[in-house]
Amino acid sequence: FRRLGLRGMKQRLLVVANRLPVSANRRGEDHWSLEISAGGLVSALLGVKDVDAKWIGWAGVNVPDEIGQRALTRALAEKRCIPVFLDEEIVHQYYNGYCNNILWPLFHYLGLPQEDRLATTRNFESQFNAYKRANQMFADVVYEHYQEGDVIWCHDYHLMFLPKCLKDHNINMKVGWFLHTPFPSSEIYRTLPSRSELLRSVLCADLVGFHTYDYARHFVSACTRILGLEGTPEGVEDQGRLTRVAAFPIGIDSERFKRALELTAVKRHINELTQRFAGRKVMLGVDRLDMIKGIPQKILAFEKFLEENPLWNDKVVLLQIAVPTRTDVPEYQKLTSQVHEIVGRINGRFGTLTAVPIHHLDRSLDFHALCALYAVTDVALVTSLRDGMNLVSYEYVACQGSKKGVLILSEFAGAAQSLGAGAILVNPWNITEVANSIRHALTMSPDEREKRHRHNYAHVTTHTAQDWAETFVCELNETVAEAQLRTRQ
Ligand code: G6P
Repeated sequence: FRRLGLRGMKQRLLVVANRLPVSANRRGEDHWSLEISAGGLVSALLGVKDVDAKWIGWAGVNVPDEIGQRALTRALAEKRCIPVFLDEEIVHQYYNGYCNNILWPLFHYLGLPQEDRLATTRNFESQFNAYKRANQMFADVVYEHYQEGDVIWCHDYHLMFLPKCLKDHNINMKVGWFLHTPFPSSEIYRTLPSRSELLRSVLCADLVGFHTYDYARHFVSACTRILGLEGTPEGVEDQGRLTRVAAFPIGIDSERFKRALELTAVKRHINELTQRFAGRKVMLGVDRLDMIKGIPQKILAFEKFLEENPLWNDKVVLLQIAVPTRTDVPEYQKLTSQVHEIVGRINGRFGTLTAVPIHHLDRSLDFHALCALYAVTDVALVTSLRDGMNLVSYEYVACQGSKKGVLILSEFAGAAQSLGAGAILVNPWNITEVANSIRHALTMSPDEREKRHRHNYAHVTTHTAQDWAETFVCELNETVAEAQLRTRQ
């Protein structure tokens, strides 16, 4: 904005994402209680200066009646949120089906669904139609609230069809689209039956953003190979029109974590945890219970470490927080039982009457408890099989100012590109390598820990979520201004 001379003016920004940053609970026919979930995106946008942002998205609940819908719309308006109401059938086909059973695994290199392949193929078309219908429903809400000059920022794989809906309605809308997951190699992407239609829609946006340069490169190469378009250093060109494609690595609001560590409540948690685990090293995993997070592989690597290093048996504990997610999708249900089975077996094998090696929790923690856990643990294990960025690794580093704990990080997480020099990078599929890295982390000299931590901490505290959002919006404004100049010349 500084560069555009917009300082002092508020630019309206419509953020469109599948999920609103609130959890809504119905307390009566026309009464809702709302809780803001302060995830990365929310704090990123709260920190962007000179922008007046509103969110459009699904509230995550089914509200079949008009009274309930009106009451929820009113309550959300106070939080600058605008709901898109999706009924159960569309949620089933669009969200559980096309988004989470097809696009999500494919974008994380797990391929199209393996089991029940025939059924999936038969359902494919109806799920894709539901996906397009749902995207159109998001677009309808955008049209209703759009004012000339607004920036519209569409987020993630749920809304790949949205840029087309928006531009078909009004070609002058400023539209950006950002993907929070990896964009896979074009060799994987091209297996998707609706590959061309989705690419063409995304290309309707003025600016397309990814977390890493590799994802941007994969996207451009999918456009050249599948659509036969020309890839340039700036993006993708189609009949003289350029869609700008670039990498914008996200960050966190590191100050929020640093501030939290000063709170009495967090210090109390830290003391409790320090006493509880006195005499043992503590390793931490915090993940959504998702197959891309590699939780079974991580636990098996820990088992191998215990097997090969019996002296460590009662001197180390792994705390694994596995936040339940997408619990209506059968793959996720299977994963839960699989993880429980492995944890039970390992605790049975290595536990004693007084201690078990793995504490596994199937739930989320509140922010203060999470900060305390990040602060007291000696090692964090982020071993995703694939991950767009992975901000748990950033949050851990932000809370390790005094302890200088070690981060073991998957080379397949976007974060490996920024924290690679400070973390121990691992291939999460190689259980022996992860087990050896656990030993390395637990026995690392204070000097090496300090050096590694310093590198990561400098990165996490200087590449913040606010910078990320500000850079994207600024780049979108500039891209549109340049395109207008070109057409005038
Ligand atoms: C990933 C996606 C987000 C999504 C989040 C939680 O981080 O990139 O778009 O909101 O997972 O998943 P859920 O399905 O619960 O919204």
